[in-house]
Amino acid sequence: MDATGFYKLNIDERLSLLKKHRNLSDEEALLLKNSGALSLDIANRMIENVIGAMHLPLAVATHFKINGKEMLVPMAIEEPSVVAGACKAAKLTLPEGFTAKSDEPIMIGQVQIVNIKDGKEALSSFEKHKKEIFEIARGYAKQMEQYGGGLRDISAKIIRSKRGDMLVAYFDVDVRDSMGANTVNTILEGVAPSIASYVGGKPCLRIISNLAVKRKSYAQAVWKRNVIGEDGVEGILDAYELAKNDIYRCVTHNKGIMNGIDAVALASGQDWRAIEAGAHAYASLDGYHPLTHYEKTKDGDLLGKIELPLAVGTVGGAINTSPTAKLALKVLGAQSWRDLAVAMTCVGLANNFAALYALSTTGIQAGHMKLHARNIAVLAGAKTPEEIDEVAQELANKKDFSLDLAKQVLKKIKE
Ligand code: MEV
Repeated sequence: MDATGFYKLNIDERLSLLKKHRNLSDEEALLLKNSGALSLDIANRMIENVIGAMHLPLAVATHFKINGKEMLVPMAIEEPSVVAGACKAAKLTLPEGFTAKSDEPIMIGQVQIVNIKDGKEALSSFEKHKKEIFEIARGYAKQMEQYGGGLRDISAKIIRSKRGDMLVAYFDVDVRDSMGANTVNTILEGVAPSIASYVGGKPCLRIISNLAVKRKSYAQAVWKRNVIGEDGVEGILDAYELAKNDIYRCVTHNKGIMNGIDAVALASGQDWRAIEAGAHAYASLDGYHPLTHYEKTKDGDLLGKIELPLAVGTVGGAINTSPTAKLALKVLGAQSWRDLAVAMTCVGLANNFAALYALSTTGIQAGHMKLHARNIAVLAGAKTPEEIDEVAQELANKKDFSLDLAKQVLKKIKE
């Protein structure tokens, strides 16, 4: 699909393109258009004490060519410029686009056994009965085996704490197309009493870890010097050095990456808190560091890379209940969790590139304010798309984004 000028189309025109290129039915397009795909009935079954539903703008990022395939990436976010930044950064990688990959979908679960008498003995009992523990745990993963996943490995260690020794058992589970929390937690709760019966003590926590280090995703792209300019390349390299050497900058650098990743996660019904927690914990291993990496190629172009754990699923969780999330996955064309993970990873890299490029050259306020001007126009009373555009344009021209000026401009238009 030719996405040139997608941003200039109106919502109906954009949906028509999606109907044509992503096979959306009239009904599905209407669901998206009504922005009310989550009925209160469903919402009331998703969480407790429901009184309504919260809406966010849902957009698609264009120009993403990932491993040679064009993708339209759904993003749900309230912050202006994030979608535009992703699209711009992606466009600047063309015609090559991004290359990306993901590890196998292995999630880690933990069982904590407390009140251990002797840590050394408990650990050797665990090792002695490892096979039995594995088989018992495996019994709770049978359903996942039908899909090609299942329990892959188990291990244990002793942690000495002021409350005494505890044994912590680790379970590596291949969760295939799911995010994995339900599968892993079921295994852990099932096997925990048996571990305690072999090693002594009492089961305490039995829960998935959100530090999904065995399930990382990777992406990279080259931004050519003749496209982004010498200043673009050097500016981004300088910005990257600051992030590497200063945690105050690094956290904001990573926040910009997560702007994109979270937006795709929200659109596609993922547990974005788990993704956030995992990303920042991963960034903290060996000292808090940027999740992206930049270097100059021998031709003087800019090579950008990203690597982070990404626990995402295309079945289960909110995807089962949220019709919008299902449609978002259809728009993306995700056949499996891996398509979603690589798209998210590329968007994270794109948003980071876009932020650094803008920050190290023109600054971000001009772009932000241009979008914000439309909101000010509406606040000033502009109603039709023409009025909104005209007021916003005038504010941008004058570089004055005050409500007063917006009201004056609107008054003039209406005279
Ligand atoms: C704002 O949401 C994100 C940025 O602060 C990211 C960055 O500074 O790299 C612009």
